[in-house]
Amino acid sequence: MTWRTADARPAVERYLARNPGLSFVARCGAQLVGCVLCGHDGRRGYLQHLAVDATYRRSGIGRQLVQHCLAKLQQLGIEKVHLDVLVDNKAAQQFWQHLGWSRRDDLQRYSWITSDANA
Ligand SMILES: CC(C)(COP(=O)(O)OP(=O)(O)OC[C@H]1O[C@@H](n2cnc3c(N)ncnc32)[C@H](O)[C@@H]1OP(=O)(O)O)[C@@H](O)C(=O)NCCC(=O)NCCS
Repeated sequence: MTWRTADARPAVERYLARNPGLSFVARCGAQLVGCVLCGHDGRRGYLQHLAVDATYRRSGIGRQLVQHCLAKLQQLGIEKVHLDVLVDNKAAQQFWQHLGWSRRDDLQRYSWITSDANA
């Protein structure tokens, strides 16, 4: 994953406020062991920054976090969900494919940065 100014606390708080009840954390007792950001733009859903503590991987936490997000998006009538995976993150690619997600080879993402920040 890549961390940007968009991942600073105020920015994440704004994201959560715009997308209430869609993002989740996983806890083992008091310890935070997983998280995922989820939102939508009224048309498509988006997952970002799914992460599970390395000690707790391969025990179904990632799958459950994703399932919670998809269930919430479905309740809101969002019919398609997108996510980005870095091209060198082979483990994540295998994870998403294992969960049945379709890799898109028919499009490219273009980005524009509107400030000098490490956005
Ligand atoms: C990707 C990640 C979130 C997966 O979390 P996890 O809790 O280990 O995943 P789960 O245990 O829920 O796995 C669900 C299924 O995917 C499989 N899976 C998980 N990681 C896999 C991998 N690297 N390769 C192949 N299959 C994998 C599991 O075997 C499991 O299969 P099953 O349900 O048929 O038994 C975790 O590896 C992680 O935090 N990675 C670093 C951060 C990252 O790259 N996030 C993704 C950004 S796009």
